[in-house]
Amino acid sequence: MLLRVICIALSLAGSAAAQEVDVQEGRDLFMTHCWQCHGLDATGDGPMAEMLAITTPDLTRLASRNNGEFPLEAVARQIDGRDPLLAHGGEMPIFGPFLDTGSAVALRPPSGQPMMTGLPLANVIVYLESIQEE
Ligand code: HEC
Repeated sequence: MLLRVICIALSLAGSAAAQEVDVQEGRDLFMTHCWQCHGLDATGDGPMAEMLAITTPDLTRLASRNNGEFPLEAVARQIDGRDPLLAHGGEMPIFGPFLDTGSAVALRPPSGQPMMTGLPLANVIVYLESIQEE
């Protein structure tokens, strides 16, 4: 599937090589931190899912549940914990301190404002976008 989120890597403090967003890196992060709940294929059937009080969402249908458009901002907020709802105790751990670090990257949704995230978070997001099903 074609990635609709265009990523621009900004080099910080004049560092020589701008960091590139990398779907494979994002997949590796998912296979380290996320599959336990969301499942190896991200459909929501990981081994920890049944221990949670609420249903673990299928991450391959984020776009189809949002009229075909990948909900970039909502996804980023959910993962890094910026979503105010999470401050009231969601089931999902907050990964911001962990993933929203390193070089700053601008993710550009098809519509709306560019959004700055750390490179690891951007990688996870482009991985999720790459696995969207109709
Ligand atoms: C402990 C289990 C658990 C882990 C680990 C986990 N999640 Fe979640 N995730 C959930 C649950 C449960 C929800 C439903 C929302 C909520 O209440 O927190 C969710 C929601 C989401 C959503 C929003 C889905 C929607 O329908 O809007 C995204 C995106 C997401 N997770 C991505 C990730 C990523 C990426 C990782 C790894 C960095 C991850 N999750 C790790 C349990 C988990």
